[in-house]
Amino acid sequence: MRTPLVAGNWKMHGHLSANADLLTALVSCADLQTKALEVLVCPPSIYLAQAHSLLAASAIQLGAQNFHPQNQGAFTGEIAAPMLQEFGVSYALVGHSERRSLFAEDDTFLLAKCQAALSARITPILCVGESLEEYEKGQGLEVVRAQVTSVVRALNPEEVQSLVIAYEPVWAIGTGLTATPEYAQQVHAEIRDQVAHWSEPSIAQQLRILYGGSVKPENAAALFAMPDVDGALVGGASLDAASFIAICQAAA
Ligand code: G3H
Repeated sequence: MRTPLVAGNWKMHGHLSANADLLTALVSCADLQTKALEVLVCPPSIYLAQAHSLLAASAIQLGAQNFHPQNQGAFTGEIAAPMLQEFGVSYALVGHSERRSLFAEDDTFLLAKCQAALSARITPILCVGESLEEYEKGQGLEVVRAQVTSVVRALNPEEVQSLVIAYEPVWAIGTGLTATPEYAQQVHAEIRDQVAHWSEPSIAQQLRILYGGSVKPENAAALFAMPDVDGALVGGASLDAASFIAICQAAA
């Protein structure tokens, strides 16, 4: 009932020729052009135009890694959600742990980003997740609950309906450590409960919740087998066409 979504977050990687090779390989894979699955790539913003053009005839969608919550203004170096929309961007990451920790983006700012994306008809992928320290103290669920609540309780049901949430335990990002499928399931179920609480149960049932953190072809199928894991937000493995395709195939 929920179409799986696999999103590749390239982070600050890529160059014109490598991007072209990767995108050409993805576009030529028939398994990624199916209605059973949504596939998304999020290149660095300077390459969005290149990706937009190379993905034009494909079902693979384009996502942004970042944008500013204002639509225009004196924000040197920033880009706005309506600008992304002009380049075919249909999803945008919001609240990735690297934005939260390295760029001090707090819950208020992240809510404003979600609202700006929704106004530009871009689906925010709200990223949540606990740090290693919080995990070790057994505070994972509490942290995730608070991050979800701060955004979802401020949105109306129609807006929540247009949201995707990605659970990324910070201790699993780029470390090779992955949450066990059972732990991911527990957190995803809790996220769905929180969304039902602050919005509507039927909306929570339709909401897609992705898992992120060292997802690879070897662990993807076990994660996707969990009832509340609706896809993945893939970092490192999304830079390798064969790995990303294998993860997508496991989700379909
Ligand atoms: O956005 C993606 C996540 O940060 C996961 O990255 O797959 O390299 O651990 P990773």
